[in-house]
Amino acid sequence: MTKTFYITTPIYYVNDKPHIGHAYTTIACDVLARFKRLDGYDVKFLTGTDEHGQKIAKAAQEQGIEPIALCDRNSKTFRDLAGVLGISNDDFIRTTEPRHIAACQALWLELEKNGHIYLSKYAGWYAVRDEAFYDEGELTKGANGEKLAPTGAPVEWVEEESYFFKLSAFQDRLLAFYDATPSVIGPKSRFNEVRSFVKGGLRDLSISRTTFSWGVPVPGNDKHVMYVWIDALTNYIAALGYPNTSGDYATYWPSAMHMVGKDIIRFHCVYWPAFLMAANLTPPTRVFAHGWWTVEGQKMSKSLGNVVDPNTMVGKYGLDQVRYFLMREIPFGNDGDFSEAAISGRINGELANELGNLAQRGLGFISKNLGGVLPVPGAYSVEDNDMLKACVDALEPVRVAMDMQGFDKALDAIWTVVRAANGYVDKQAPWALKKTDPARMNTVLYVMAEIVRHLAILMQPFVPTSANKILDQLGVAADARTFAHLGAAHALKGGSPLPAPSPVFPRWAPPTPEKAAP
Ligand code: MSP
Repeated sequence: MTKTFYITTPIYYVNDKPHIGHAYTTIACDVLARFKRLDGYDVKFLTGTDEHGQKIAKAAQEQGIEPIALCDRNSKTFRDLAGVLGISNDDFIRTTEPRHIAACQALWLELEKNGHIYLSKYAGWYAVRDEAFYDEGELTKGANGEKLAPTGAPVEWVEEESYFFKLSAFQDRLLAFYDATPSVIGPKSRFNEVRSFVKGGLRDLSISRTTFSWGVPVPGNDKHVMYVWIDALTNYIAALGYPNTSGDYATYWPSAMHMVGKDIIRFHCVYWPAFLMAANLTPPTRVFAHGWWTVEGQKMSKSLGNVVDPNTMVGKYGLDQVRYFLMREIPFGNDGDFSEAAISGRINGELANELGNLAQRGLGFISKNLGGVLPVPGAYSVEDNDMLKACVDALEPVRVAMDMQGFDKALDAIWTVVRAANGYVDKQAPWALKKTDPARMNTVLYVMAEIVRHLAILMQPFVPTSANKILDQLGVAADARTFAHLGAAHALKGGSPLPAPSPVFPRWAPPTPEKAAP
């Protein structure tokens, strides 16, 4: 039976335009989805937009438009961004879609039927920006003495009738769940953070609001709309056809992985598993929380005007370059800083000088000196065999790293081979063999092409367009590019004509400032 993998991004709030933070999560999920497909998995990859709640209602009001008009417009910008980023998602869900609303109401009824919901009154602090309730003890003070959420978001006092979810009753079950499957939360530091939060005791959670109406109506009580987080989290099962638990739900839910930013871990690792347990459904298999990006050392903010638009970034540096940088620059899970120096260093130092150069050296030589025909190799030397073995052997450490969402570690393992391969080429110096030992030159050039084939196959998840261009230049058939095609059994055929090569990873230099008009 084919193994399955279900990967989701958070669904993005439509009150704002996409920025590098959104692009980051989505690219990470795309890299994983592509990796798993190449590794033989049946993958479902979901992304989408979070369109209900007070924050969206407020943004629409400020712009003087209906909430749905705001949602339609801004959801499209996220959908378009997925196109710009080369995202291979299989579905895009909007929480205003009927399938989503039906799933939310079905889940609510299930929780109610199982006795986990009661009606009471909420009195406490709420941050619209975070769409989160906070306890008095969690609040901090702003510059003017005003109360702020721990995230820095303004809070308001809310007192209203509300339905509650009996979260407090799930403390022991959640702790048992974490302890039985510690791999459910990554990285380890986040696991510890979540576990100690739950260990500290849980209060029941307010799950409905009455002071605005932009949300999923609570079944049987139209005065209430659902709290936006119970609504939003349900997207992950709505897209699998819930409340129907056969079909896609049965196929994919057991392998569900949610990728999230560190700010929304509590919702995904505490509330969401508890809601699912309360509905007698299984919690997700894994939630990974990544860190946050700053820009040139500063927090991104509208007031600083330094919010990085991923569209601009892709236009400036190139899509694969941006994807590579984001996955390579920092250990996944840590915070990172985006700077021009850092990205241009990666583009020029690694993509252009190391991987690009490796591909270009062999292909360019074959094109110029051998009439563009891949040479037929003779017997392999020990060095040839060692290099080819290193290429095949790289898959396992890459796979292990990817299963832990260690994108940077996976790239480290690939780069160990890239660097060894450049060393191999320097040492074998095929161009020097042209006159002295053409047969050996042919073998070295062929081995170089095989090395590049392996590296390009492994690099597809990270830099899909460029890796596939390299594979095109090697004449590799489109259906011979999975990890099952690594190794000698699918080796290139010596004697085949190759398409004309062209460099795949150009160097990057800042645009020269325009000359001032005379
Ligand atoms: N709508 C909720 C998620 C609901 S999922 C059921 C939400 N949306 S969001 O649009 O505000 O944020 C989406 C993601 O972007 C979060 O995972 C958040 O961590 C991430 N990022 C926002 N700013 C970021 C950076 N500066 N850097 C990296 N990721 C950042 O939360």
